[in-house]
Amino acid sequence: MLPGKAEVSTSQLHIYEEISMTQHATLTIDGKTFQLPVITGSEGERAIDIRALRRETGLITFDPGFGSTGSCASAITFMDGERGILRYRGIPIEQLAEKSTFVETAYLLITGKLPNREELTRTSVMLNDFSLLHEDLKFFYQNYPSKAHPMGILSAMVNTMRSFYPELIDLEEDISRTFLRLISKVRTMAAMAYKISRGHKTVYPRPNYSYGANFLHMMFDNPVIPYEMDYDLVQALNVFWILHADHEQNCSTAAVRVVGSGKVNVYAAISAGISALWGPLHGGANQAVIQMLEQIQNEGLTIPQVIARAKAKDDPFKLMGFGHRVYKTYDPRARIMKKMCDLVLKKQRPNGNNEGDTLLDIAMELEHTALEDPYFQEKNLYPNVDFYSGIVLRAMGIPTNMFTVMFAIGRLPGWLAQWQEDYHDPMGKISRPRQIYTGEPLTDYVPIDERE
Ligand code: CMC
Repeated sequence: MLPGKAEVSTSQLHIYEEISMTQHATLTIDGKTFQLPVITGSEGERAIDIRALRRETGLITFDPGFGSTGSCASAITFMDGERGILRYRGIPIEQLAEKSTFVETAYLLITGKLPNREELTRTSVMLNDFSLLHEDLKFFYQNYPSKAHPMGILSAMVNTMRSFYPELIDLEEDISRTFLRLISKVRTMAAMAYKISRGHKTVYPRPNYSYGANFLHMMFDNPVIPYEMDYDLVQALNVFWILHADHEQNCSTAAVRVVGSGKVNVYAAISAGISALWGPLHGGANQAVIQMLEQIQNEGLTIPQVIARAKAKDDPFKLMGFGHRVYKTYDPRARIMKKMCDLVLKKQRPNGNNEGDTLLDIAMELEHTALEDPYFQEKNLYPNVDFYSGIVLRAMGIPTNMFTVMFAIGRLPGWLAQWQEDYHDPMGKISRPRQIYTGEPLTDYVPIDERE
C-alpha cells in the first residue's frame, strides 16, 4: 500500500538536509550590499535563495515563464537538460522503460521506493477494486456534445469525482485509497469517453487484466468483435506511460502545485493539471505533431518548405514536437519512443517492413533535415517526446483526439507525487507571485455622462 503522511514528512526533511547553504552571492543595489545564500541540491545544481530579497531590499525578481526560477525543492525527479538525463527517484528513465511497469513506476514516484512483491500485489488488487465507475457518472458523459474534446471532459470529470468519492488525506490508508482510486478511475473514464464519443456500448474492466491490458480491453472490445489482447501493445503502452509519468516542474505539474498550495482538494488540483496539459505547447503537442505530419502528407508540402516556415520570424508556425525549455540536447524520452515506433509498426506489418508508414518516413526526414539546419543547431532544438509518441499511439489504434488523454493518464502519478510533496512541505506556502505593474498611474473615476 502507498505510504501516507508520516513517511512523506520524513522524506521532506530529507529534501532539506540535501540542500547545503555554504556560499553566498553578493548583490549591490544603490551602493548597498546584500548577501544572498547560494543553495546546492543533491546533484550539484545551484540556486540563489532570494526568499528574503524583498524584505531586505524592497525589490522583486522578474522572470516571466520562470525560466530561471526554482519554485520548490523536490526529491522526485531529476533532469539535466544539457546532458539529456531524466531519473525518477534516482533511477534512469532508460532502466525503468526497459525493466519496470507503469504501476510499479507510479508506486516508485509516489512512495519514493520500488515496491516489494507483496506491496505490488496489494497495489494491483486495489487498482482493480477501484476500476469501476459510479453509474451516475456516466450521465455526465452522455450530455456532452459529441464533438467535445476528451481533455475537457476528463478535466471536468476528475473535478466531479469529489462529489462522488470524498477526498481522504488524513490517514496513511486514506491517502492511498484516494490516489489509487484516481489512477484506476481516470483510465476507466478515458476509455469510457472514447466509447461514448463513438456511440458505442461502454466496456467494463476485467479483474484478470493488468492496468494497461485493461485499458486496451475497455477501449477496443465490443460485443461483435471481442478484442484479442496483444501483449506487445500492452508493453508499448507501459513504456509510453512510464516515459510520461513525471517531468519535474513542467507547466501542468506547476499548475497542480500552485492550485494545490491553496489547500484545495486533490481532485481539483489534478483537474487543473489536466487543463494545463491540454495546450499544444505542452501535452497537446502529441496531437499537433500528427496533425502537422498529416498536413505535410495531404498537402504535398516539402520538408524544406516546412523548415522554412518554422524558421520565419514573422510566421507563428513552430515545428511541433521540437524544442524544450529544459532539454538542450536530444530528449532521452524521444530516443526510447523512436524505438517503440519500430515495435508497434512491425506489429501492423508482420513482414517487418516499415517502409509503408509514410508519417514515420516524413517524421524521420523532418528530424534529419532540422538537425542539419544551423537555425535548429544554434537554438539547441531537438525532437522532444511528443515527436514520435503520436506515431506509436496511432499505430496502436488510439484516435488522435485521445493522444493528450493518454499523456494525462501517464502523468497522473507524477502529479499526485508532486501534490503530496507540496502538501506536506514544512516550508510550503501558498503560491502567490508578484508582478511589475505597467498600467495607468492613479486615474480618477469619470461618471458615465461625462465620458467621450
Ligand atoms: N520550431 C521553431 N522554432 C522554435 C521551436 C520550434 N519547435 N521551439 C523553439 N523555437 C525557437 C523560438 O522561436 C525561439 O526563437 P528566438 O530566440 O529567435 O525568439 C527560440 O527557439 C527559443 O524558444 P522559446 O520558445 O523561447 O523556448 P521555450 O523554452 O519558451 O519554449 C517550447 C519551449 C517547448 C514551448 C517550444 O520549444 C515549442 O513551442 N515547441 C513546439 C511545441 C512542443 O513540441 N511542445 C512539447 C514540449 S515537450 C512535452 C512536454 O513536456 O510538455
